[in-house]
Amino acid sequence: MTSQDPTNPSPFDAEPRFDSVEELRTALRNVDYLSDEGIAGIVYLADRLGKPILVEGPAGTGKTQLAKSVAEVLGARLIRLQCYEGLDESKALYEWNYKKQLLRIQATKSDTEGQNWDEIEDDIFSDEFLLERPLLEAIRATDPVVLLIDEVDRVEVETEALLLEILSDYQVSIPELGTITARQIPMVFLTSNNTRELSEALKRRCLYLHVDYPDMEREKEIVLTKVPGLTESLADQIARVVRSIRQLELKKAPSVSETIDWARTLVLLGVEQIDAETATGTVNILLKYQSDIQKVVKEFAAEQKSFSRGGILSPEA
Ligand SMILES: Nc1ncnc2c1ncn2[C@@H]1O[C@H](COP(=O)(O)OP(=O)(O)O)[C@@H](O)[C@H]1O
Ligand SMILES: [Mg+2]
Repeated sequence: MTSQDPTNPSPFDAEPRFDSVEELRTALRNVDYLSDEGIAGIVYLADRLGKPILVEGPAGTGKTQLAKSVAEVLGARLIRLQCYEGLDESKALYEWNYKKQLLRIQATKSDTEGQNWDEIEDDIFSDEFLLERPLLEAIRATDPVVLLIDEVDRVEVETEALLLEILSDYQVSIPELGTITARQIPMVFLTSNNTRELSEALKRRCLYLHVDYPDMEREKEIVLTKVPGLTESLADQIARVVRSIRQLELKKAPSVSETIDWARTLVLLGVEQIDAETATGTVNILLKYQSDIQKVVKEFAAEQKSFSRGGILSPEA
C-alpha cells in the first residue's frame, strides 16, 4: 500500500477519459451541464496532462456543478472536500483514531505482559487506526473518483500547503506509515470564488479555468434545460433581461442559479411576457441587496413610463 506496485503501469500512462472536446461537451450536455468550448477544452486537457483544474469565477456560475457533472459523465464517485476557515490536516487528509488506539493499549496491557512498546506502537499506527479524510480517500481509491476541493479560497493561505503534495505528485506522506501514492490519477477540481489571491505554488500546479456568466445563448439553454414548462420565448426574454441587469453597476449581479430560480418563478406565475410590473414584483429572486433592487426597479419604471425601446425589458435590448 505504501509504494507503487512495480508490475502496475504508472498512473500517468492511464487511458484518456475523453476522445475529443466535442464528445465531452455532448456528454456534459446529456447530464444537463451546458459548457462552452473553453470549459470543455480545459477539462479535456487536464485529463490528458494529468493535472488538476483550478476553476475560478463569480458565485453561482456552475463551478461546483462542473465537477459534479464530470463525475456523472464518468460514472465516477465524487469525493468532496468543502473548504472553510480553520480547516486542518485532520479534516482534510487523515486523523489517527485516538480512542481506538487507547483502547488497544489498554487491552494489550491487561492481557499480555510480554508485548513491548515498539510492537504496540507499530500496531496502533497501522491502517486499522487511520481515519481517512477526503484527500487521502481520493488518493487511495481504486474505483474511478473525481476529487472536488470546493471553495479553496476560504482556507488560510498556510492551509493551502496541505494540498500541494497531492496536487503535484498525487501522494500523501504520513510520518508513521510512509508515503501513499495514488494508483490512478483522479480528476481534481478546485474551485474559488476569488475572495482572496491563491498562492503561486498552488496555481502553478493547476490548469486555470475562468468561468464567467454565460453568454445569452448559453444561459437561455441552461434555463430551458433546467426549468420544465418554460417556453423558448420566455427563456429568451429571461436571458436578455438578466444580461441587461448584469450590465448595471451592482453590488452583486444575478448568478445563473438565480436566473434559474427566476425562470421557475415566472413559470409558476404563468407569465408569458415579462413586463415592468412582473419584473418589479419578482426582482427579489434575482437580486439580494436592497440597493441593487432599488436601482433595477427604477430602470424598469423609467422604461414603462417612456415606452422606450432598447431599455432593460425591450426585446431588442
Ligand atoms: N453551465 C451550466 N449548466 C447547467 N447548469 C448550470 C450551469 N451553470 C450553473 N448552473 C446551475 O447553477 C447552479 C449553481 O451552480 P454552482 O455550481 O453551485 O455555482 P458555483 O459553484 O459556481 O457557485 C447549479 O446547481 C446549476 O443548476
Ligand atoms: Mg460552488
